Amino acid sequence: MRIAMIGTGYVGLVSGTCFSEFGLDVVCVDMDEGKIDRLKQGEILIFEPGLDQLVKTNAASGRLSFSTDLKSAVKDADAVFIAVGTPSRRGDGHADLSYVYAAAEEIAHAIDGYTVIVTKSTVPVGTGREVQRIIKETRPDANFDVVSNPEFLREGSAINDFMRPDRVVIGAETDRAKEIMRQLYRVLYIIETPILFTSLETSELIKYAANTFLAAKITFINEVADLCEKVGADVHDVAKGIGLDGRIGKKFLHPGPGYGGSCFPKDALALVKTAQDYGSPLRIIETVVDINDKRKTAMADRIMAACGGSVDGKTVAILGLTFKPNTDDMRDSPSLAIVSALLDAGATIKAYDPEGMDEAKRMMPDVIYCEDTYATMDGADVLVIVTEWNEFRSLDFARIKGLLSAPILVDLRNIYTPEDLAQAGFSYHCIGRATRKPGPR
Ligand code: UGA
Repeated sequence: MRIAMIGTGYVGLVSGTCFSEFGLDVVCVDMDEGKIDRLKQGEILIFEPGLDQLVKTNAASGRLSFSTDLKSAVKDADAVFIAVGTPSRRGDGHADLSYVYAAAEEIAHAIDGYTVIVTKSTVPVGTGREVQRIIKETRPDANFDVVSNPEFLREGSAINDFMRPDRVVIGAETDRAKEIMRQLYRVLYIIETPILFTSLETSELIKYAANTFLAAKITFINEVADLCEKVGADVHDVAKGIGLDGRIGKKFLHPGPGYGGSCFPKDALALVKTAQDYGSPLRIIETVVDINDKRKTAMADRIMAACGGSVDGKTVAILGLTFKPNTDDMRDSPSLAIVSALLDAGATIKAYDPEGMDEAKRMMPDVIYCEDTYATMDGADVLVIVTEWNEFRSLDFARIKGLLSAPILVDLRNIYTPEDLAQAGFSYHCIGRATRKPGPR
C-alpha cells in the first residue's frame, strides 16, 4: 500500500510518519521547498516527543520520503490524505477551506487508477462532499472515492495517540474505499482498536462533537472551580467524586486558565458557525466559547488581586507560555491574553518557557525572555505558573524566596498544594481550592 500525505504540518507529519511505522510506503508532500529540504535532512520543524526518532528510522528504511512533487506522489498512491491547514477565516470564525479545495483540484489532475482521497484535516460537515464534487468536475474520468478520517491526536502525545487510539473513525461509503482503509489500519485491527465506519457527514461531525464536548467539559470544571473557591470546597475532590461515575469519566476535569491550542478554540468557533448556518444553533458551545475567552483575561485579574489589587510598576515572573506542556505551540495560549492584560495594567513581564520562547518572542515582543526558571524570578514581585511543564513541578521555594521581592505564587495549573506552600511561607493562589474565607457575596 502506498500513501501520499499532502501537507507536512502537525497532522500530516505525525500521521505520515506513523503510517510508515505501520509498514506502509508514505510520501509526505508539501509545496514549501525549504520545509521539504529540511525534512529530507531529518530536521523536524515541530516539537513532538519521539517524532524525530520515528522519522529518522522510517526514512532510513526507505518507507518514508518527502517531496514537493504532488503529481508523482499521487499517481502512485492507493490513498491520498489531505492534511493541509484549515485556519479560522479572518473575522467570522468559519474554517478557511481554500487550501483543502486547492489540494483537491491538484490531486484530481494527478490521480491514476482507483484512488481513495481522505480528508484528515479537521473540516466542517459537507467538506468531503465538496471535495468529491471538485474532483469529479476537474476530472470526470477519475476513478476515486472520498473518505473522511479525522485525527484525534493530542500535541505532546501524538505518536501514542496514533499508534494506540481509543478508536478510529472512517466516513466511507463504498466497499472498495472501506477495504483500502481497513488495510491502512490493519495494525490497529490486530490490537482490536474499535473502528467505526460511518457516512462522510457523520464522521466529519464526530470530530467537532468530540473536541467541543471536551472543551465544554473543561469549561464546566473551570466554572465549578470558581464556585468551589466561593463555597470553600476543593475542586480536585469534586472532580474525583464526579469522575468516578463511569458516565462522567475522570479525564479532562483538571481546572486551569481556560483551554487553548490550535484545535479547541478554532473548532468550537467553527462548529458554532456551522450550527448557526444550518439554523440549529449549539447554544451550549456558544456559551463555552464566551466563558473560555473571558476566563483567560480573568486570570490577569487574579494575578492583580494576588498583588494587592494592581500590578502597575510591578514585575511579574511567568513560568510557561505554551498552551500546554510538551509542545512549542503558542496558538491561542492563555498566556497571550494574560500577558497582554498585565502589560496594559502597567506590569513588566519576565518569562521562561522550555520550548515556546521562539514563537512567543514573535507574538509578544514586549516581554523580557529569560534563559531559565530562576532567572525569571530574580527581582520579580510575583511568580505565576501558566503552563504545567514537569520542570516547574519541584521548584526550590527557599531559593525563590530569596529572589522574589515578596513570596507570592499564583499557580494557574494547581501543581502545588496550599498546605505545602503555606509551609514554605508563601502567599499561594490557586484555582478552585479555597485559600480565603468562603461565603456568599
Ligand atoms: C485536542 C484533543 O484533545 C485531541 O483529541 C484532538 O485530536 C486535537 O485537539 C485536534 O483537534 O487536533 P490538543 O489541542 O493537542 O488536542 O490538546 P489537549 O491535550 O486536548 O488540551 C487542550 C487544552 O485544554 C489545553 O490548553 C489544556 O491545558 C486544556 N485542558 C485539558 C485543561 O485545561 N484541562 C484538562 O483537564 C485538559
